[in-house]
Amino acid sequence: MNHIIAPSLLAADFTRLADEIQMVNDSQADWLHLDVMDGRFVPNITFGMLLIDAAKQLCTKPLDVHLMILEPEKYVEQFREAGADTITVHLEASPHLHRTLQQIKATGAKAGVAINPHTPASSLEDIIELADLVCVMSVNPGFGGQKFIYNTIPKIRRIKDLITVRNTETLIEVDGGVGLHNAEKILQAGADVLVAGSSVFKANDPADTVARLKDIGGEIQRFA
Ligand code: DX5
Ligand code: ZN
Repeated sequence: MNHIIAPSLLAADFTRLADEIQMVNDSQADWLHLDVMDGRFVPNITFGMLLIDAAKQLCTKPLDVHLMILEPEKYVEQFREAGADTITVHLEASPHLHRTLQQIKATGAKAGVAINPHTPASSLEDIIELADLVCVMSVNPGFGGQKFIYNTIPKIRRIKDLITVRNTETLIEVDGGVGLHNAEKILQAGADVLVAGSSVFKANDPADTVARLKDIGGEIQRFA
């Protein structure tokens, strides 16, 4: 499978949101990544279902909704109704993660689990079969434009091994500080989905940056 590029709207110009989403539509991007923050789980507040609903009306690509909120189970159905195609909750914010993933799947959305930089790959051992996607945070969640944490690379490999051994279809998404400078290493480690905020939206030519991210590693030999 060719890897997926998911530009993160957080880094877009919010005075020109419709144009920014049109750029995503016209580019080789596969998904649009949307970061919901509550000021409790993370030290920042962004947007909620209203914006997801607006994005759904403008965007022709699937919406990848990343919930950085406490008690995400309270809002799963509302985010699905607003137009989320994938709903990702944080393992650290979900004491009943198994139930929450089932709840997400019952809405018809794909279910994702995000893990913070300090959360080990082994914490996924008893949940991987239920996860359509694992989002490996390569920065501390809360803000765009941070530096990639390189310890993430061996963690991606460990998660890839777990997925291979368990023979699940789980995709590995990497989120935070991803750009043209490190995408190849991340893909070589086993990532399937690259989330890119600043590196796409702050580029002189965002669509061209998406195309270059998409082009990387056509011939990459995955570590099995
Ligand atoms: C961070 C968010 C990311 C963010 C990535 O908490 O989850 O999706 O938008 O932004 P960049 O690519 O600028 O690090
Ligand atoms: Zn995100």
